[in-house]
Amino acid sequence: ISPSQINAAGHLTIGGCDAVDLAHEYGTPLGVYDVSQIKSQIQHFQEVFKNNDVDYAVCYASKAFANTAMYQLVHEMDCHVDVVSAGEISMALHAGFPASKMTFHGNNKSREELQLAVDQGLGVIALDNFHEIDLLSDILEKSQAEIKVLLRITPGISAHTHEYIQTGQIDSKFGFDLESGQADQALQRVLQEPRMHMLGVHAHIGSQIFELAGFEGAGKKLVDLAADWKKRFDYEAEVINVGGGFGIRYTQADRPLKPEQFVDIIIKTIKQESQAAGLKTPAVWIEPGRSIAGPAGYSLYTIGSRKDVKGIRPYLAVDGGMGDNIRPALYDAQYEAAVANRPAAPAVETVHIAGKYCESGDILIQEQALPETQPGDILVMFDTGAYGYSMASNYNLNPKPAIVFVENGQATLVTRRETPSDLERLDFGLNGQQLS
Ligand code: LLP
Repeated sequence: ISPSQINAAGHLTIGGCDAVDLAHEYGTPLGVYDVSQIKSQIQHFQEVFKNNDVDYAVCYASKAFANTAMYQLVHEMDCHVDVVSAGEISMALHAGFPASKMTFHGNNKSREELQLAVDQGLGVIALDNFHEIDLLSDILEKSQAEIKVLLRITPGISAHTHEYIQTGQIDSKFGFDLESGQADQALQRVLQEPRMHMLGVHAHIGSQIFELAGFEGAGKKLVDLAADWKKRFDYEAEVINVGGGFGIRYTQADRPLKPEQFVDIIIKTIKQESQAAGLKTPAVWIEPGRSIAGPAGYSLYTIGSRKDVKGIRPYLAVDGGMGDNIRPALYDAQYEAAVANRPAAPAVETVHIAGKYCESGDILIQEQALPETQPGDILVMFDTGAYGYSMASNYNLNPKPAIVFVENGQATLVTRRETPSDLERLDFGLNGQQLS
Protein backbone atom coordinates (compact mmCIF):
# COMPACT_ATOMS: atom_id res chain seq x y z
CA ILE A 1 0.00 0.00 0.00
CA SER A 2 1.54 3.31 -1.02
CA PRO A 3 1.09 6.34 1.26
CA SER A 4 -0.80 8.07 -1.57
CA GLN A 5 -3.58 5.50 -1.13
CA ILE A 6 -4.18 6.53 2.47
CA ASN A 7 -6.43 9.55 3.10
CA ALA A 8 -6.55 12.13 5.88
CA ALA A 9 -8.77 9.84 7.97
CA GLY A 10 -6.00 7.23 7.78
CA HIS A 11 -8.21 4.94 5.67
CA LEU A 12 -7.34 3.05 2.51
CA THR A 13 -8.71 4.62 -0.66
CA ILE A 14 -9.64 2.78 -3.84
CA GLY A 15 -10.09 4.87 -6.98
CA GLY A 16 -10.12 7.94 -4.77
CA CYS A 17 -12.95 6.59 -2.58
CA ASP A 18 -12.61 5.86 1.12
CA ALA A 19 -12.85 2.07 1.42
CA VAL A 20 -14.43 2.27 4.89
CA ASP A 21 -17.13 4.65 3.62
CA LEU A 22 -17.81 2.25 0.73
CA ALA A 23 -18.21 -0.64 3.19
CA HIS A 24 -20.59 1.38 5.35
CA GLU A 25 -22.62 2.76 2.45
CA TYR A 26 -23.00 -0.43 0.40
CA GLY A 27 -22.53 -3.08 3.09
CA THR A 28 -20.14 -6.02 3.14
CA PRO A 29 -19.03 -8.29 1.65
CA LEU A 30 -18.52 -5.86 -1.20
CA GLY A 31 -16.73 -6.14 -4.52
CA VAL A 32 -15.01 -2.91 -5.51
CA TYR A 33 -13.48 -2.39 -8.97
CA ASP A 34 -11.10 0.45 -9.73
CA VAL A 35 -12.18 1.41 -13.24
CA SER A 36 -8.97 3.26 -14.06
CA GLN A 37 -6.95 0.11 -13.38
CA ILE A 38 -9.11 -1.86 -15.81
CA LYS A 39 -8.72 0.85 -18.45
CA SER A 40 -4.97 1.16 -18.07
CA GLN A 41 -4.38 -2.60 -18.34
CA ILE A 42 -6.42 -2.71 -21.54
CA GLN A 43 -4.50 0.30 -22.88
CA HIS A 44 -1.18 -1.40 -22.11
CA PHE A 45 -2.24 -4.37 -24.20
CA GLN A 46 -3.41 -2.13 -27.03
CA GLU A 47 -0.14 -0.15 -27.02
CA VAL A 48 1.92 -3.31 -27.38
CA PHE A 49 0.03 -4.22 -30.52
CA LYS A 50 0.31 -0.72 -31.95
CA ASN A 51 4.06 -0.65 -31.23
CA ASN A 52 4.45 -3.94 -33.07
CA ASP A 53 2.37 -2.73 -36.00
CA VAL A 54 0.16 -5.78 -36.20
CA ASP A 55 -3.60 -6.26 -36.64
CA TYR A 56 -5.12 -7.38 -33.38
CA ALA A 57 -8.06 -7.86 -31.09
CA VAL A 58 -7.99 -7.74 -27.31
CA CYS A 59 -10.87 -10.08 -26.41
CA TYR A 60 -11.68 -9.70 -22.72
CA ALA A 61 -12.43 -13.19 -21.33
CA SER A 62 -15.59 -12.26 -19.52
CA LYS A 63 -15.72 -15.47 -17.45
CA ALA A 64 -13.18 -13.71 -15.20
CA PHE A 65 -15.77 -11.12 -14.19
CA ALA A 66 -18.97 -10.19 -15.96
CA ASN A 67 -21.78 -7.83 -15.24
CA THR A 68 -23.61 -5.31 -17.37
CA ALA A 69 -21.31 -2.41 -16.47
CA MET A 70 -18.18 -4.47 -17.20
CA TYR A 71 -19.44 -5.33 -20.69
CA GLN A 72 -20.18 -1.63 -21.25
CA LEU A 73 -16.74 -0.64 -20.00
CA VAL A 74 -14.78 -3.08 -22.14
CA HIS A 75 -16.88 -2.05 -25.13
CA GLU A 76 -16.00 1.61 -24.48
CA MET A 77 -12.37 0.51 -24.39
CA ASP A 78 -12.66 -0.99 -27.87
CA CYS A 79 -12.28 -4.60 -26.78
CA HIS A 80 -13.83 -7.74 -28.15
CA VAL A 81 -15.16 -10.27 -25.63
CA ASP A 82 -14.81 -13.99 -25.20
CA VAL A 83 -18.19 -15.45 -24.14
CA VAL A 84 -18.84 -19.04 -23.07
CA SER A 85 -22.55 -19.46 -22.47
CA ALA A 86 -25.99 -18.20 -23.42
CA GLY A 87 -25.84 -16.31 -20.13
CA GLU A 88 -22.71 -14.39 -21.08
CA ILE A 89 -23.99 -13.76 -24.61
CA SER A 90 -27.32 -12.48 -23.30
CA MET A 91 -25.83 -10.18 -20.69
CA ALA A 92 -23.31 -8.77 -23.15
CA LEU A 93 -26.12 -8.07 -25.64
CA HIS A 94 -28.21 -6.57 -22.83
CA ALA A 95 -25.29 -4.22 -22.11
CA GLY A 96 -25.25 -3.13 -25.76
CA PHE A 97 -22.07 -5.01 -26.58
CA PRO A 98 -21.92 -5.61 -30.34
CA ALA A 99 -22.45 -9.26 -31.27
CA SER A 100 -19.92 -8.87 -34.06
CA LYS A 101 -17.13 -8.49 -31.49
CA MET A 102 -17.94 -11.64 -29.52
CA THR A 103 -16.05 -14.92 -29.78
CA PHE A 104 -18.01 -17.89 -28.51
CA HIS A 105 -15.95 -20.53 -26.70
CA GLY A 106 -16.71 -23.78 -24.89
CA ASN A 107 -16.23 -27.52 -25.23
CA ASN A 108 -19.93 -28.39 -25.26
CA LYS A 109 -21.94 -25.55 -26.74
CA SER A 110 -25.55 -26.64 -26.98
CA ARG A 111 -27.72 -26.44 -30.09
CA GLU A 112 -29.73 -23.69 -28.39
CA GLU A 113 -26.60 -21.71 -27.60
CA LEU A 114 -25.26 -22.08 -31.13
CA GLN A 115 -28.65 -21.08 -32.52
CA LEU A 116 -28.61 -17.97 -30.32
CA ALA A 117 -25.11 -17.14 -31.55
CA VAL A 118 -26.19 -17.50 -35.19
CA ASP A 119 -29.45 -15.58 -34.71
CA GLN A 120 -27.64 -12.73 -33.00
CA GLY A 121 -24.88 -12.63 -35.60
CA LEU A 122 -21.96 -13.35 -33.29
CA GLY A 123 -18.59 -12.43 -34.73
CA VAL A 124 -16.79 -15.73 -34.27
CA ILE A 125 -17.44 -19.25 -33.04
CA ALA A 126 -14.35 -21.01 -31.73
CA LEU A 127 -15.09 -24.57 -32.83
CA ASP A 128 -13.93 -27.12 -30.32
CA ASN A 129 -15.03 -30.55 -31.61
CA PHE A 130 -16.65 -32.41 -34.51
CA HIS A 131 -20.07 -32.63 -32.85
CA GLU A 132 -20.14 -28.86 -32.80
CA ILE A 133 -19.18 -28.59 -36.47
CA ASP A 134 -22.16 -30.86 -37.28
CA LEU A 135 -24.55 -28.84 -35.11
CA LEU A 136 -23.39 -25.51 -36.48
CA SER A 137 -23.52 -26.73 -40.06
CA ASP A 138 -27.12 -27.82 -39.60
CA ILE A 139 -28.12 -24.57 -37.88
CA LEU A 140 -26.47 -22.42 -40.56
CA GLU A 141 -28.19 -24.38 -43.33
CA LYS A 142 -31.62 -24.10 -41.71
CA SER A 143 -31.14 -20.43 -40.85
CA GLN A 144 -29.57 -19.57 -44.22
CA ALA A 145 -26.83 -17.80 -42.27
CA GLU A 146 -23.04 -17.55 -42.37
CA ILE A 147 -20.48 -17.19 -39.59
CA LYS A 148 -16.75 -16.89 -39.02
CA VAL A 149 -15.04 -19.72 -37.16
CA LEU A 150 -11.75 -20.36 -35.42
CA LEU A 151 -10.51 -23.88 -34.78
CA ARG A 152 -9.40 -24.43 -31.21
CA ILE A 153 -6.24 -26.50 -31.19
CA THR A 154 -4.68 -28.38 -28.28
CA PRO A 155 -1.09 -27.42 -28.96
CA GLY A 156 0.50 -30.15 -26.84
CA ILE A 157 1.77 -27.68 -24.29
CA SER A 158 0.37 -27.75 -20.81
CA ALA A 159 1.26 -24.82 -18.71
CA HIS A 160 1.07 -24.83 -14.96
CA THR A 161 1.49 -22.03 -12.52
CA HIS A 162 5.19 -22.49 -11.97
CA GLU A 163 6.21 -24.93 -14.67
CA TYR A 164 5.36 -26.01 -18.15
CA ILE A 165 5.59 -29.42 -19.66
CA GLN A 166 5.60 -30.11 -23.30
CA THR A 167 3.89 -33.35 -24.17
CA GLY A 168 3.23 -35.05 -27.45
CA GLN A 169 -0.21 -36.14 -26.40
CA ILE A 170 -2.02 -33.68 -24.18
CA ASP A 171 -4.76 -34.87 -21.90
CA SER A 172 -7.34 -32.09 -22.21
CA LYS A 173 -11.05 -31.89 -22.85
CA PHE A 174 -10.63 -28.84 -25.09
CA GLY A 175 -9.91 -28.55 -28.76
CA PHE A 176 -8.66 -30.60 -31.68
CA ASP A 177 -5.31 -32.24 -31.11
CA LEU A 178 -2.47 -31.96 -33.51
CA GLU A 179 -0.69 -35.29 -33.31
CA SER A 180 -3.65 -37.51 -34.19
CA GLY A 181 -4.58 -35.50 -37.27
CA GLN A 182 -7.82 -34.20 -35.72
CA ALA A 183 -6.90 -30.60 -36.45
CA ASP A 184 -6.28 -31.38 -40.15
CA GLN A 185 -9.59 -33.22 -40.40
CA ALA A 186 -11.41 -30.33 -38.76
CA LEU A 187 -9.86 -27.87 -41.22
CA GLN A 188 -10.81 -29.97 -44.23
CA ARG A 189 -14.32 -30.30 -42.89
CA VAL A 190 -14.75 -26.56 -42.28
CA LEU A 191 -13.28 -25.64 -45.68
CA GLN A 192 -16.08 -27.69 -47.26
CA GLU A 193 -18.74 -25.85 -45.31
CA PRO A 194 -20.06 -23.09 -47.57
CA ARG A 195 -21.55 -21.15 -44.66
CA MET A 196 -18.48 -21.19 -42.41
CA HIS A 197 -15.70 -18.71 -42.99
CA MET A 198 -12.47 -20.23 -41.68
CA LEU A 199 -10.84 -17.30 -39.88
CA GLY A 200 -7.88 -18.97 -38.18
CA VAL A 201 -6.56 -20.93 -35.25
CA HIS A 202 -6.86 -20.64 -31.51
CA ALA A 203 -5.05 -22.12 -28.52
CA HIS A 204 -5.31 -21.37 -24.82
CA ILE A 205 -2.61 -23.10 -22.80
CA GLY A 206 -3.81 -22.35 -19.28
CA SER A 207 -4.25 -19.65 -16.71
CA GLN A 208 -2.09 -17.76 -14.19
CA ILE A 209 1.03 -18.63 -16.19
CA PHE A 210 4.35 -17.04 -15.29
CA GLU A 211 6.66 -18.67 -17.82
CA LEU A 212 7.27 -17.19 -21.18
CA ALA A 213 8.29 -20.50 -22.73
CA GLY A 214 4.75 -21.89 -22.81
CA PHE A 215 3.45 -18.88 -24.72
CA GLU A 216 6.39 -18.83 -27.13
CA GLY A 217 5.92 -22.53 -27.70
CA ALA A 218 2.21 -22.13 -28.38
CA GLY A 219 2.82 -19.20 -30.75
CA LYS A 220 5.37 -21.25 -32.68
CA LYS A 221 3.12 -24.29 -32.86
CA LEU A 222 0.25 -22.26 -34.23
CA VAL A 223 2.44 -20.64 -36.89
CA ASP A 224 3.90 -24.05 -37.81
CA LEU A 225 0.38 -25.33 -38.20
CA ALA A 226 -0.61 -22.34 -40.33
CA ALA A 227 2.45 -22.89 -42.54
CA ASP A 228 1.65 -26.58 -42.86
CA TRP A 229 -1.97 -25.83 -43.80
CA LYS A 230 -0.83 -23.30 -46.39
CA LYS A 231 1.38 -25.95 -48.00
CA ARG A 232 -0.98 -28.89 -47.80
CA PHE A 233 -4.41 -27.32 -48.11
CA ASP A 234 -3.65 -23.94 -49.65
CA TYR A 235 -5.40 -22.34 -46.69
CA GLU A 236 -3.84 -19.30 -45.02
CA ALA A 237 -4.98 -18.32 -41.50
CA GLU A 238 -6.02 -14.69 -41.07
CA VAL A 239 -6.04 -14.81 -37.28
CA ILE A 240 -3.87 -16.51 -34.70
CA ASN A 241 -5.56 -16.33 -31.29
CA VAL A 242 -3.24 -17.30 -28.44
CA GLY A 243 -5.88 -17.17 -25.69
CA GLY A 244 -5.21 -15.67 -22.28
CA GLY A 245 -3.51 -16.90 -19.15
CA PHE A 246 -1.10 -14.07 -18.33
CA GLY A 247 -0.23 -14.46 -14.67
CA ILE A 248 -0.72 -11.70 -12.14
CA ARG A 249 0.84 -10.95 -8.78
CA TYR A 250 -1.31 -12.12 -5.86
CA THR A 251 1.34 -12.07 -3.12
CA GLN A 252 4.78 -10.63 -2.67
CA ALA A 253 6.25 -14.02 -3.55
CA ASP A 254 4.82 -13.69 -7.08
CA ARG A 255 7.05 -11.91 -9.58
CA PRO A 256 5.46 -12.27 -12.99
CA LEU A 257 6.36 -10.29 -16.07
CA LYS A 258 3.78 -7.63 -16.79
CA PRO A 259 0.93 -9.08 -18.86
CA GLU A 260 1.81 -6.79 -21.77
CA GLN A 261 5.42 -8.06 -21.69
CA PHE A 262 4.15 -11.59 -22.32
CA VAL A 263 2.06 -10.29 -25.19
CA ASP A 264 4.97 -8.35 -26.70
CA ILE A 265 7.00 -11.54 -26.94
CA ILE A 266 4.09 -13.54 -28.29
CA ILE A 267 3.56 -10.99 -31.06
CA LYS A 268 7.26 -10.90 -31.96
CA THR A 269 7.37 -14.70 -32.04
CA ILE A 270 4.37 -14.93 -34.32
CA LYS A 271 5.68 -12.19 -36.63
CA GLN A 272 9.16 -13.71 -36.94
CA GLU A 273 7.95 -17.25 -37.41
CA SER A 274 5.38 -16.21 -39.99
CA GLN A 275 7.95 -14.29 -42.00
CA ALA A 276 10.37 -17.19 -41.81
CA ALA A 277 7.64 -19.50 -43.09
CA GLY A 278 6.72 -17.16 -45.94
CA LEU A 279 3.28 -16.36 -44.52
CA LYS A 280 1.60 -12.98 -44.32
CA THR A 281 1.66 -11.80 -40.71
CA PRO A 282 -1.73 -12.82 -39.35
CA ALA A 283 -3.80 -10.70 -36.99
CA VAL A 284 -2.89 -11.63 -33.41
CA TRP A 285 -5.77 -11.98 -30.97
CA ILE A 286 -5.47 -12.39 -27.21
CA GLU A 287 -8.07 -13.29 -24.57
CA PRO A 288 -6.95 -11.92 -21.22
CA GLY A 289 -9.40 -12.28 -18.36
CA ARG A 290 -7.56 -12.40 -15.06
CA SER A 291 -4.95 -9.78 -16.01
CA ILE A 292 -7.69 -7.23 -16.80
CA ALA A 293 -10.14 -7.89 -13.96
CA GLY A 294 -7.95 -9.36 -11.22
CA PRO A 295 -5.71 -6.53 -10.01
CA ALA A 296 -8.53 -3.99 -10.34
CA GLY A 297 -10.75 -5.85 -7.85
CA TYR A 298 -10.85 -5.50 -4.07
CA SER A 299 -13.08 -7.39 -1.64
CA LEU A 300 -14.24 -5.62 1.51
CA TYR A 301 -15.38 -7.65 4.50
CA THR A 302 -16.37 -6.78 8.04
CA ILE A 303 -14.37 -8.53 10.74
CA GLY A 304 -16.53 -10.40 13.25
CA SER A 305 -15.71 -13.26 15.58
CA ARG A 306 -12.31 -14.48 16.67
CA LYS A 307 -11.13 -17.78 18.02
CA ASP A 308 -7.72 -18.22 19.58
CA VAL A 309 -6.49 -21.78 19.40
CA LYS A 310 -4.07 -21.83 22.27
CA GLY A 311 -0.47 -22.16 21.23
CA ILE A 312 -1.43 -22.52 17.57
CA ARG A 313 -3.10 -19.49 16.04
CA PRO A 314 -5.98 -17.05 16.03
CA TYR A 315 -8.81 -17.43 13.53
CA LEU A 316 -10.34 -14.12 12.54
CA ALA A 317 -13.70 -14.49 10.81
CA VAL A 318 -15.20 -12.19 8.19
CA ASP A 319 -18.76 -11.92 6.85
CA GLY A 320 -18.01 -13.58 3.48
CA GLY A 321 -15.83 -16.44 2.32
CA MET A 322 -16.00 -19.34 -0.09
CA GLY A 323 -19.39 -18.18 -1.44
CA ASP A 324 -17.91 -14.99 -2.85
CA ASN A 325 -14.39 -16.32 -3.40
CA ILE A 326 -13.99 -20.07 -3.85
CA ARG A 327 -10.40 -19.80 -5.10
CA PRO A 328 -8.56 -20.38 -1.80
CA ALA A 329 -10.69 -23.46 -1.01
CA LEU A 330 -10.64 -24.76 -4.59
CA TYR A 331 -7.11 -24.02 -5.79
CA ASP A 332 -5.28 -23.18 -2.60
CA ALA A 333 -5.03 -19.70 -4.10
CA GLN A 334 -3.09 -17.11 -2.12
CA TYR A 335 -4.10 -13.52 -1.46
CA GLU A 336 -3.01 -10.63 0.73
CA ALA A 337 -5.17 -8.44 2.94
CA ALA A 338 -5.01 -5.35 5.13
CA VAL A 339 -7.25 -3.54 7.58
CA ALA A 340 -8.87 -0.78 5.53
CA ASN A 341 -9.52 1.51 8.49
CA ARG A 342 -5.88 1.23 9.66
CA PRO A 343 -3.80 0.20 6.65
CA ALA A 344 -0.59 1.76 7.95
CA ALA A 345 -0.73 0.23 11.45
CA PRO A 346 2.14 -2.19 12.16
CA ALA A 347 1.39 -5.90 12.13
CA VAL A 348 1.27 -7.47 15.58
CA GLU A 349 0.12 -11.01 14.83
CA THR A 350 -0.38 -13.65 12.19
CA VAL A 351 -3.91 -14.98 11.74
CA HIS A 352 -5.95 -17.29 9.56
CA ILE A 353 -8.70 -15.26 7.95
CA ALA A 354 -11.75 -17.49 8.03
CA GLY A 355 -14.96 -17.18 6.08
CA LYS A 356 -18.43 -17.64 7.57
CA TYR A 357 -19.37 -20.78 5.64
CA CYS A 358 -19.91 -24.11 7.35
CA GLU A 359 -16.73 -25.75 6.14
CA SER A 360 -13.35 -26.03 7.79
CA GLY A 361 -11.79 -25.39 4.39
CA ASP A 362 -13.38 -21.95 4.18
CA ILE A 363 -10.19 -20.07 5.01
CA LEU A 364 -9.65 -17.05 2.77
CA ILE A 365 -6.04 -16.43 3.78
CA GLN A 366 -3.65 -18.52 5.80
CA GLU A 367 -1.12 -16.73 7.96
CA GLN A 368 -1.88 -13.13 7.20
CA ALA A 369 0.09 -10.61 9.27
CA LEU A 370 -2.32 -8.01 10.67
CA PRO A 371 -2.38 -5.17 13.16
CA GLU A 372 -4.63 -5.41 16.18
CA THR A 373 -8.25 -5.74 15.09
CA GLN A 374 -11.69 -5.39 16.58
CA PRO A 375 -15.06 -6.64 15.43
CA GLY A 376 -16.40 -4.07 12.97
CA ASP A 377 -13.02 -3.34 11.38
CA ILE A 378 -13.02 -3.53 7.60
CA LEU A 379 -10.75 -6.08 5.98
CA VAL A 380 -9.68 -5.50 2.38
CA MET A 381 -8.47 -8.41 0.27
CA PHE A 382 -6.45 -7.40 -2.79
CA ASP A 383 -6.46 -8.63 -6.40
CA THR A 384 -9.76 -10.47 -6.06
CA GLY A 385 -11.30 -9.11 -9.28
CA ALA A 386 -10.99 -12.26 -11.40
CA TYR A 387 -12.85 -15.53 -10.82
CA GLY A 388 -14.17 -14.36 -7.45
CA TYR A 389 -17.63 -12.92 -8.04
CA SER A 390 -17.91 -14.78 -11.33
CA MET A 391 -17.57 -18.07 -9.46
CA ALA A 392 -19.72 -17.00 -6.51
CA SER A 393 -22.41 -19.33 -5.21
CA ASN A 394 -25.34 -19.21 -2.86
CA TYR A 395 -23.90 -21.89 -0.61
CA ASN A 396 -25.50 -21.81 2.84
CA LEU A 397 -28.09 -19.59 1.10
CA ASN A 398 -25.91 -16.57 1.50
CA PRO A 399 -26.79 -13.85 -0.98
CA LYS A 400 -24.13 -12.76 -3.48
CA PRO A 401 -22.42 -9.45 -2.69
CA ALA A 402 -22.96 -6.08 -4.30
CA ILE A 403 -20.44 -4.69 -6.79
CA VAL A 404 -19.33 -1.08 -6.91
CA PHE A 405 -17.23 0.61 -9.60
CA VAL A 406 -15.03 3.48 -8.40
CA GLU A 407 -13.16 6.10 -10.40
CA ASN A 408 -11.89 9.59 -9.55
CA GLY A 409 -13.51 9.54 -6.14
CA GLN A 410 -16.93 8.56 -7.52
CA ALA A 411 -18.61 5.28 -6.63
CA THR A 412 -21.38 3.66 -8.67
CA LEU A 413 -23.36 0.64 -7.56
CA VAL A 414 -23.32 -1.62 -10.64
CA THR A 415 -24.71 -4.86 -9.17
CA ARG A 416 -26.96 -4.76 -6.14
CA ARG A 417 -26.60 -7.20 -3.29
CA GLU A 418 -28.88 -10.23 -3.48
CA THR A 419 -31.60 -10.50 -0.88
CA PRO A 420 -33.24 -13.60 0.58
CA SER A 421 -36.22 -12.98 -1.70
CA ASP A 422 -33.95 -13.12 -4.76
CA LEU A 423 -33.04 -16.61 -3.61
CA GLU A 424 -36.68 -17.62 -3.12
CA ARG A 425 -37.99 -16.31 -6.42
CA LEU A 426 -37.37 -19.49 -8.42
CA ASP A 427 -38.93 -21.81 -5.87
CA PHE A 428 -42.36 -23.34 -5.55
CA GLY A 429 -43.68 -24.90 -2.38
CA LEU A 430 -44.51 -28.57 -1.84
CA ASN A 431 -47.84 -28.04 -3.55
CA GLY A 432 -46.12 -26.63 -6.62
CA GLN A 433 -47.38 -23.11 -5.92
CA GLN A 434 -45.32 -20.00 -5.33
CA LEU A 435 -45.49 -19.05 -1.64
CA SER A 436 -46.52 -15.48 -0.95
N1 LLP B 1 -9.50 -17.93 -23.26
C1 LLP B 1 -9.97 -19.16 -23.00
C2 LLP B 1 -10.38 -20.03 -24.11
C3 LLP B 1 -10.07 -19.59 -21.67
O1 LLP B 1 -10.52 -20.83 -21.41
C4 LLP B 1 -9.69 -18.73 -20.61
C5 LLP B 1 -9.81 -19.13 -19.21
C6 LLP B 1 -9.23 -17.44 -20.94
C7 LLP B 1 -9.14 -17.08 -22.28
C8 LLP B 1 -8.83 -16.43 -19.90
O2 LLP B 1 -7.74 -16.82 -19.15
P1 LLP B 1 -7.08 -15.79 -18.10
O3 LLP B 1 -6.44 -14.68 -18.88
O4 LLP B 1 -8.16 -15.28 -17.25
O5 LLP B 1 -6.10 -16.60 -17.35
N2 LLP B 1 -11.23 -20.28 -12.44
C9 LLP B 1 -9.79 -20.33 -12.61
C10 LLP B 1 -9.37 -19.87 -13.99
C11 LLP B 1 -10.07 -20.61 -15.11
C12 LLP B 1 -9.70 -20.11 -16.45
C13 LLP B 1 -10.57 -20.70 -17.51
N3 LLP B 1 -10.30 -20.24 -18.83
C14 LLP B 1 -9.14 -19.50 -11.52
O6 LLP B 1 -9.84 -18.94 -10.70
O7 LLP B 1 -7.91 -19.43 -11.44
